[in-house]
Parts: sequence; C-alpha cells; structure tokens
Amino acid sequence: MAMLLFSHGGEWSPRKLRVELRALILAMVTLALLLPLSSANSEGDALHALRRSLKDPSNVLQSWDPTLVNPCTWFHVTCNSDNSVIRVDLGNARLSGSLVPELGSLQNLQYLELYKNSITGHIPPELGNLKALVSLDLYHNNFTGSIPSSLGNLSNLSFLRLNNNMLTGRIPRQLTTISTLKVVDFSNNDLCGTIPVTGSFTRLQAKSFENNPRLNGPELEGFVPYEMSCF
Ligand SMILES: *[C@@H]1O[C@H](CO)[C@@H](O)[C@H](O)[C@H]1NC(C)=O
Ligand SMILES: *[C@@H]1O[C@H](CO)[C@@H](O)[C@H](O)[C@H]1NC(C)=O
Ligand SMILES: *[C@@H]1O[C@H](CO)[C@@H](O)[C@H](O)[C@H]1NC(C)=O
Repeated sequence: MAMLLFSHGGEWSPRKLRVELRALILAMVTLALLLPLSSANSEGDALHALRRSLKDPSNVLQSWDPTLVNPCTWFHVTCNSDNSVIRVDLGNARLSGSLVPELGSLQNLQYLELYKNSITGHIPPELGNLKALVSLDLYHNNFTGSIPSSLGNLSNLSFLRLNNNMLTGRIPRQLTTISTLKVVDFSNNDLCGTIPVTGSFTRLQAKSFENNPRLNGPELEGFVPYEMSCF
C-alpha cells in the first residue's frame, strides 16, 4: 500500500491523491471481503479432506459439498454465529478409513464426536491445536499408534474418551496438566508404562485404565517409576 502511494515521482496534485486514495480504499475493502470468506472455506476444506480420507458406506457425508461458501449447512456439522465450526457429530456412522491432520485447523471446534465407527490409523498430533476443544470422543474404533502428547495442550478439554481401540505406548504425562478434565477413558487398549497420578489424574479411577494388559501402576503404589521401559 505504501508503494501504491509513493510509487511514482512528480508533483502531488489533489486529483492524483484522490485517485490513489480511492485505489487504497478499494484494496482494503477487497481484503476485508476476502478474509472471512477464505477462513470459512479453509474449515470446509479441512472437513472435506476428512471426507476424502474416510470410507462412508451409509453416505452420511453426502451433504459435505466443498463448493458451498462454508460447511455450516452440512449435516453433522454445527457452526457458531460467525460461521465457524464448533461441532462435528459423527458417532455411530459406520465410517472407516483414517483421520487427517487438517482437522487441527478447526480453531473453534468444541466437540469432535467420532465414537463407534471403524476408523483406523493414528490419532493426528495436530488435534492438539484445537484449543477450544471440550470433548474428544474417539472410543470404539480401531485407532493404532500412541496417544499424542500434544493433546496436553487442550486446556479446555473435559471429556477424553479413547477406550476400545488398539492404542499402544505410554499415557503422555502432559495430559495431567489439563485441569478441566472430568471424564477420561483409556480402557480396552494396549497401552503400556504406568498410570500417572498427578494433576487432574488424581481424580480419575482405575476403571478409566482397565484392560490394558501391559499398563502398570498407578504410580502411587510405587512399584514402577514412569520412566520404566515400556514393552
Ligand atoms: C477392528 O479390527 C478388528 C480386526 O481387524 C475387527 O475384528 C474389529 O471388528 C474392528 N473393530 C472395529 C470397531 O471396527
Ligand atoms: C475455554 O473455556 C472458557 C470457559 O468456558 C471460555 O471462556 C474460553 O473462551 C475457552 N477457550 C477457548 C480457547 O475456546
Ligand atoms: C503445545 O503448545 C505449545 C505452544 O502453545 C507448543 O510450543 C508445544 O510444542 C505444544 N506441545 C506439544 C506437545 O505439541
């Protein structure tokens, strides 16, 4: 914009200044119009990337049309008054396939409900970018790999249900720093190491961790330190 105003030499005439100002205002108005549109589209793009990555034999994602200005009219998607996505409700939808890192760009998402499907692959570490997330329900799927430590960055999370998957590795200690945690269920996986007992985990019961044959602890019982190798 500075270039626009000072790009050519010569004398300033009021007329020239008026033309330049008009161009400046036009550029700013164009920018202001484009910005909200492109952010709405980026959320639609993220969800459409998810659609492409999932198998959907029941066609529950049929309304997910990426050519619409935003995803707010799509079934199973809820937006706030700024047309930003706050809920994705796809529990019990016969979905398989895997999740995509693009989901991490849904910056106002509060509820990610994907329970009781047959989704495989890893939980994307990018879900740790969902700062507004209140509920992450991925239970009863076929997720493999470990629980991303980045989920410890979800400072508004209340519900974290990852039970009945095939998750391996340790329970990330970072999760104990989420003070809002109310309901945690990691049962029926293949986690190993020990159960942290500090921070918000002091409130959790053994039930949250049952049926992980290689998981030891809780650490309070003093049998094994957290750092013990995890086979
Ligand atoms: C997970 O995978 C196993 C074996 O591949 C299969 O038997 C089971 O039905 C799957 N579970 C879900 C919830 O898809
Ligand atoms: C976290 O929750 C509080 C209280 O509900 C809310 O005011 C705040 O905006 C939330 N943070 C984010 C990042 O959404
Ligand atoms: C958590 O977020 C901070 C920035 O807020 C980032 O530096 C850090 O890498 C994140 N932690 C993880 C485990 O992703």
